[in-house]
Amino acid sequence: MANRKVFERLDVSVPGYRYPIIIGYHLLGDSDALSQYVAAEQVMIVTNELVASLYLHELKTSLSGHQCDVVILPDGETYKNQASLNLIYDALMTNSHHRDTTVIALGGGVIGDITGFAAATYQRGVRFINCPTTLLAQTDASIGGKTAINHACGKNMIGSFYQPAAVLIDLNTLLTLPGREFNAGLAEVIKYGLLAGEEFLVYLEEALKHGLRVNGSEILQIVSRSAQIKARYIEADEKEQGSRALLNLGHTFAHALETYTSYQRWLHGEAVAIGLYCAALLSYHMGIAKQSLVERVACIMTRAGLPYTIPKDIDLKQLRQFMQLDKKIKNKRLRFVVLKKPGECYLDDGVTEECLHNTLSAAVEGENSNG
Ligand SMILES: NC(=O)c1ccc[n+]([C@@H]2O[C@H](COP(=O)([O-])OP(=O)(O)OC[C@H]3O[C@@H](n4cnc5c(N)ncnc54)[C@H](O)[C@@H]3O)[C@@H](O)[C@H]2O)c1
Repeated sequence: MANRKVFERLDVSVPGYRYPIIIGYHLLGDSDALSQYVAAEQVMIVTNELVASLYLHELKTSLSGHQCDVVILPDGETYKNQASLNLIYDALMTNSHHRDTTVIALGGGVIGDITGFAAATYQRGVRFINCPTTLLAQTDASIGGKTAINHACGKNMIGSFYQPAAVLIDLNTLLTLPGREFNAGLAEVIKYGLLAGEEFLVYLEEALKHGLRVNGSEILQIVSRSAQIKARYIEADEKEQGSRALLNLGHTFAHALETYTSYQRWLHGEAVAIGLYCAALLSYHMGIAKQSLVERVACIMTRAGLPYTIPKDIDLKQLRQFMQLDKKIKNKRLRFVVLKKPGECYLDDGVTEECLHNTLSAAVEGENSNG
């Protein structure tokens, strides 16, 4: 149990259930940190080829007292599907895993989502531990209990709400994350800054201005504050009947951009960065936010190495049509999360076509975006 340094513990409370998010360094190799959340003798680790080559040995070593079986999936969003899910069920059944087994996700959001869904459905639900290894998964995907696989007709179409027994965030894993993936995770972190208010947003702006280093002291603060903000939304509204929908700030635009480009052009966080800028522009065009907010969002995205404008080759009419697939639509009306100022967001279903058109036009690269 060498090097045990747990820096932060947050508890998430949803009706009838409470679980911890542990954030620290060297957690994957810390058998004590892990074992207390493992139900019994049997453990099934689910990971992918890339993450396995980096962290599987460490995790397996710290579970050496257990019957530890492993499923290694191919890497990528394309494999977040029924076929991969079946591989997990097959491994659980052929290795005779019982209802007291513990299923552990080791990887980014793709692995977390599919493993969580396997745990939710195997024998009507077994214990699940999430060990997220990307910034996006550590600050977003691993928190809140949404689990899913994709269907050929749509992303995350088959899934369930299933809370883990624990989330173990080992910040050391960020050291091997490619820069582009790290920046994509920052987009969701910036979203939390916009949702939570000035204090965290200014902290992020300063950290990014001085050059945020993956092994720097700010990372612990940024990951734990983000996890805390998301956890508070989950606690208030676990099943997204109300305020949890605010976590979709920027996502109506982002999802439309991703669908339009068949998920090939941007990482999710990059599309979210553009979506957040569009959300600020929309709020400005609706007359509820100041122009300075739009400029501020553009500035923070630049500092984070993220895109924020819509490229010229995107057809805005088609993009508008893709927005119609948004999951937040109610009574056929689009609902946008709009932003008055950092810390003050709300859902608005009264956005006119003209306002939306002006917003999208202004968001195109090279346009006078604030005008
Ligand atoms: N459940 C939720 O609430 C929720 C929220 C947001 C996103 N998601 C889902 O999360 C997924 C996106 O997650 P993601 O951005 O983590 O993508 P990902 O899981 O595909 O990981 C991105 C890439 O980084 C690699 N990787 C992971 N950890 C690494 C490490 N430590 N070092 C080096 N490489 C590493 C992965 O193998 C992959 O190639 C999507 O499927 C999305 O739908 C879920």
